[in-house]
Amino acid sequence: QQSHVGVIGLGVMGKNLALNIADNGYHVAVFDLDTPKVNAAVAQEESERKAGTAPRMQSCNNLTEMLAKLVEPRVIVLSVPAGGPVDGVCKSLIEAGIEANDIVIDTGNSLWTDTVEREARYKDKFVFFSSAVSGGEVGARFGPSLMPSGDEKAWRYVEPIWKAIAAKVDSVTGLPIERFEPGNPVTEGEPCATYIGPAGSGHYVKMVHNGIEYADMQLICEAYQLLSDGLGMSAHDIGDVFNGWNKGILNSYLMGISAEVLQQDDPLTGKPLVEMILDKAGQKGTGLWTAVSSLQIGCPAPTIAEAVYARAVSTQKNLRMQLSSKLAGPAPVSFSDAEKAEFIANLEDALYCAKVCCYAQGFQLMAMNAKEQNWSLDFAEIAKIWRAGCIIRATFLQSITKAYQEDANLANLLMADTFSQTLSKKHLNWRKTVAASVMQGIPAPCISSAIAYYDSYRCETLPANLLQGQRDFFGSHTFERTDKPAGEKYHLDWSAKQRTLSKV
Ligand code: 6PG
Repeated sequence: QQSHVGVIGLGVMGKNLALNIADNGYHVAVFDLDTPKVNAAVAQEESERKAGTAPRMQSCNNLTEMLAKLVEPRVIVLSVPAGGPVDGVCKSLIEAGIEANDIVIDTGNSLWTDTVEREARYKDKFVFFSSAVSGGEVGARFGPSLMPSGDEKAWRYVEPIWKAIAAKVDSVTGLPIERFEPGNPVTEGEPCATYIGPAGSGHYVKMVHNGIEYADMQLICEAYQLLSDGLGMSAHDIGDVFNGWNKGILNSYLMGISAEVLQQDDPLTGKPLVEMILDKAGQKGTGLWTAVSSLQIGCPAPTIAEAVYARAVSTQKNLRMQLSSKLAGPAPVSFSDAEKAEFIANLEDALYCAKVCCYAQGFQLMAMNAKEQNWSLDFAEIAKIWRAGCIIRATFLQSITKAYQEDANLANLLMADTFSQTLSKKHLNWRKTVAASVMQGIPAPCISSAIAYYDSYRCETLPANLLQGQRDFFGSHTFERTDKPAGEKYHLDWSAKQRTLSKV
């Protein structure tokens, strides 16, 4: 039996993608440099397969063997670490005799510009296609969100497989259809896989997804610190608050898992596990790339950037420990039960508003980069495929989908009535939360940077007039005037005794 798909790299994501593909009726050939991983994947497929059905996974000892076992044109899924390993495997595939029509799909978190270069570099050897994958281990196994991009002919060829293995949403409610049963894949509903655009666009969209993911996670963490340091609540009680929020407009995968983490006890000490986890956050780079891209393009994404900085500050534990006894802060505040309830209600509104702002930043960033790259991205479709399977899945993505369905060219999500009206109603409570965090000395960089973002966009006039004056003063950088046509430049001769204005 020839296999329909080859999977190279059987780490957590690769193995689960291979099992998912097999579950959906395709035959898979698998390879990893680490042979025990190959054997483990094949054994798992065998143990999970329905009794009486034929095997759908076969092992390969090397890439030449894999090429021989695949139907042509071959479809080969790479699940190897981003960067050098992707090119390493591509080189080995060329040596093993891969052919020009064969399709290699990079599913890692590759830097989007690397993907653009790779498509061009391997053009004559094979079709280098990419599909970003979100959803972690469970997503890969039972339905991830997939962001494919590159050669359109290659997409049409792999589309049935991709749509089969993707997460699905109920087409009426827009909610994820969640069934995590080996041998019983979700075949009904709308698949969370859509062709994003030319090479690199899928990885760019996934990069921004991760930037939003960083900000969304940090927002929830700030809420945790405000409730624990501000109100003195226990981890378990905060978990209850999060579970409550998860039933309302803040419903999301990240909110649900945060509650679960907070309510988990440590098997060693019996204390809440979260209190035993060292407060130093790791990162692999996608949030940083999003922040860098926003700075390069000139698209404000302060909440995403603050989330990256928050991880950086967290790693400077020694410095924080020294400064914690050196820098003064406010005395603790005590709250009545009624005040506590109000604090929690304000915080729920603050989180929602800040969350809208971080999605607004991410979507605007995608739009601005798409313009620069000449990609035509369908934002309603992108919001749709993030409704299930991916890490930032949230009920609220249904409203984003609708907003882009009503106006595909929205300059910013804050322009959509649904969001502008809700934020206009909730902003006072958001301000109260930010004020409380400042007055209590509890950092909330994402919640507060988001309100500065909201207020900046509310200002018809910003103090950049003074800034232009400063620039012209020390560097003759010129300025435009409010009473003259755009583009006309003026300079004041600041150093002269008699200051004169000239048109430059
Ligand atoms: C996903 C995740 C996944 C991973 C990232 C972020 O969508 O499934 O984004 O890709 O969690 O690599 O990891 P870091 O937090 O380590 O940067």
